[in-house]
Amino acid sequence: MPVPYPLAAETLGQEEIAAAKAVLDSGRFTMGERVGLFERAFAHCVGARHALMVNSGSSANLLMVDTLVRRTGDISCLAPGDEVLVPGLCWPTTVWPVVQHGLVPVFVDVSPRTLALDLESAAAALGPRTKAMFLVHVLGRAPDMEPYVAFCRKHGLRLLEDACESLGAHSGGRHAGTFGEAGSFSFYFSHHISTIEGGMVVTDDGTLHDDLTSLRAHGWVRNRSDRAAVARAHPGFDERFLFVSMGYNVRPTEIQGALGLVQLNRLEAMLRNREALAQDVAKWCGGAAPWLELIGSDLLGARGPTRQHSWMTLPFRLAPDAPLTRNQVIRQLEERGVETRPIIAGNLARHPALQRVNMRTPVELIQSDRLLSCGFMIGCHPVLADDARQTLERAIASFGEVS
Ligand SMILES: Cc1ncc(COP(=O)(O)O)c(C=O)c1O
Repeated sequence: MPVPYPLAAETLGQEEIAAAKAVLDSGRFTMGERVGLFERAFAHCVGARHALMVNSGSSANLLMVDTLVRRTGDISCLAPGDEVLVPGLCWPTTVWPVVQHGLVPVFVDVSPRTLALDLESAAAALGPRTKAMFLVHVLGRAPDMEPYVAFCRKHGLRLLEDACESLGAHSGGRHAGTFGEAGSFSFYFSHHISTIEGGMVVTDDGTLHDDLTSLRAHGWVRNRSDRAAVARAHPGFDERFLFVSMGYNVRPTEIQGALGLVQLNRLEAMLRNREALAQDVAKWCGGAAPWLELIGSDLLGARGPTRQHSWMTLPFRLAPDAPLTRNQVIRQLEERGVETRPIIAGNLARHPALQRVNMRTPVELIQSDRLLSCGFMIGCHPVLADDARQTLERAIASFGEVS
């Protein structure tokens, strides 16, 4: 059996282990100074005013959606039954918080090129109660954001961005996740940087940042920029246990903050390695299996710190005249040691969990369905042993025998 080519592998090295040990030696494990330092470094990295670390990308989405229905300040909030446009191709925890907050997800199709929500489909799906869009930047690719911002402005939609899969991706030189009210990121171990589990919300809005801060930890006033003023307005309470909103507990640990600081320093080098691998894979497919399209290969070669594509995994789609079926391709890869997965949830609207959800599907989700039936993905590694790389090269070369 060849050395496996896995979907994802841990990238934590000696420096990360030393940073985690330093936290354990310090005796301070709960969220503290290192999380704060990581938040500031992350905000700087993506060009946002504020960043708030949480325990997962799913929690980041949960907090963002909560702020659609509950905000301090004079922002008009969404009411139960109001609708949020979501793409058919997404991750479930983009949509669950929408449902959990009594909002109605309206599924629209995605662009076959960028895999992001398709605006023509969105325009056809709009209804009188459509109040927000939750855009997903899929697998490291940022679409051209200008049309999305213009669309949301024109139709009075609040815009949230799920950039959990797209750290390092830019549109027009600006980082994915910084165009809407808030954007989310995931640091699960298979993503661009790893804190094992972890996530971040970024925003330029100071009031929103304060609200997210309370939501992250019990709803209390601690760590808010306006805590002194709130405490003065409620003199009968001890500021340390003063609660201003309903909240969760989705705090990260100090170890996750320490890991994030080290990993962020390695981000650029890891992104370059991911892109180099994508380039090689595109070349190998071009030779042995031209019917196997590496989705996103149109952007290969456009590198640099404002890259549009940051390659989280390698998604493929079979051409209609492919000599093999998608399942045959997957079997051939798996038999040769290459781990495969569907392209995230494919068309989420078709999953059994959605059967009892109050949702709308007013347009056909043709591309989302096609990605479910004709697509799959494999890992794209920032650190890869030579023998695992050979496993992949040989597995792709084996398609030459059937082409
Ligand atoms: C688009 C998207 N959103 C949200 C998440 C959730 O992130 P996490 O696994 O950190 O909860 C993921 C996870 O892979 C994702 O791909």
